[in-house]
Amino acid sequence: MTSIPHGGTLVNRQNFGGAVDELDKELQIDQVALSDLELIASGIYSPLTGFLNEENYRSVVETMRLTTGLAWTIPVTLPVTEDAAERVSIGEKVKLTYQGEVYGTIEITEKYHPDKENEARKVYLTNDTAHPGVKRLYERGDVYLSGPIELIKRSKRPAEFANDFLDPAETRRLFDRKGWKTIVGFQTRNPIHRAHEHIQKTALETVDGLFINPLVGETKKDDIPADIRLRSYHALIDNYYVKERTALAVFPAAMRYAGPREAVFHAICRKNFGCTHFIVGRDHAGVKDYYGPYDAQKIFSNFSRDELDIQTLFFENSYFCKKCGSMASNKTCPHDPSNHVSLSGTKVRALLRDGIRPPETFSRPEVAQILIDGLREKADLAK
Ligand code: ADX
Repeated sequence: MTSIPHGGTLVNRQNFGGAVDELDKELQIDQVALSDLELIASGIYSPLTGFLNEENYRSVVETMRLTTGLAWTIPVTLPVTEDAAERVSIGEKVKLTYQGEVYGTIEITEKYHPDKENEARKVYLTNDTAHPGVKRLYERGDVYLSGPIELIKRSKRPAEFANDFLDPAETRRLFDRKGWKTIVGFQTRNPIHRAHEHIQKTALETVDGLFINPLVGETKKDDIPADIRLRSYHALIDNYYVKERTALAVFPAAMRYAGPREAVFHAICRKNFGCTHFIVGRDHAGVKDYYGPYDAQKIFSNFSRDELDIQTLFFENSYFCKKCGSMASNKTCPHDPSNHVSLSGTKVRALLRDGIRPPETFSRPEVAQILIDGLREKADLAK
């Protein structure tokens, strides 16, 4: 038995091939809105059936809950320009297009002006435009449209990992087929290093299955591209994981870098995929030093166990300790920090770009090699 979807029912707003010819108006949407459209339609954002209306938007921003009281921490909105908003009317059904292709429809129920500064401060806990989530918030349109959506076509899936897309209805069937009753979900936007592997496997010791669910939507330019990461995840699983106990599918959402609030949002989405447990480690969904290392764990105390209905598994900062000769954390290792192998993401990316493998105590060699080769290929292509 997988988990019950958030709000009770798995949403399905997919109507592939649905007729749109009779709709004459269209709205251009951006890449983030396109991914949100697909995530709503496939049920990953259950119980949402469309982009948030003003009342729900305010409720989410102020209380981390929908107006029904159901937990929801990230505003899923459809921002458009003032001009675009003027061209469409309330009550109208219009096509949603991205780069000239029609992907869906929305029945417009409301147009409203958000208070972006307040949204930034409440959701991202900063109004600094150097924060990538805040930057994107201000770059997007100033009018939000709401209303139920339908997805009539999926966006093209990258050939390199087209087989790694599964809708929640499919992951739920997969988990049932495997006979898993307890499943731990793992979010990542990075290549999996030894600390990630350690917390995943520690969690797996107490549940039936591990669901690796890497985010592949829009990320910062300096994050490792999804196609290279996917290659590295498969190599890691092939070489170091028990296949019967591991499943992988991508999470096609954009990264918000909203730290604590995004951790709750990530947990809810994984519940919709069928997970019963969710890992939150050090600085989950954080960026630079906007959030404290354990803020994304502390935020869960605002919600009762029943409200979220997914068991969070919190992990301390993990590292390889040369004296212990194993992965450890300050909970388990008594040694001086000089024995700990800790590398920042920036440092690792710099090593990989220079073709240098990080130590085996940090990254599995197969993974490091794929990342070096992948980044080299991208650099050659860019020349
Ligand atoms: S995230 O933005 O997707 O959260 P990342 O891919 O680095 O970034 O992290 C994936 C998960 O692993 C998150 O739950 C994060 O808190 C956790 N994590 C990353 N590095 C460590 C570490 N060294 N020790 C403990 N947890 C970690």
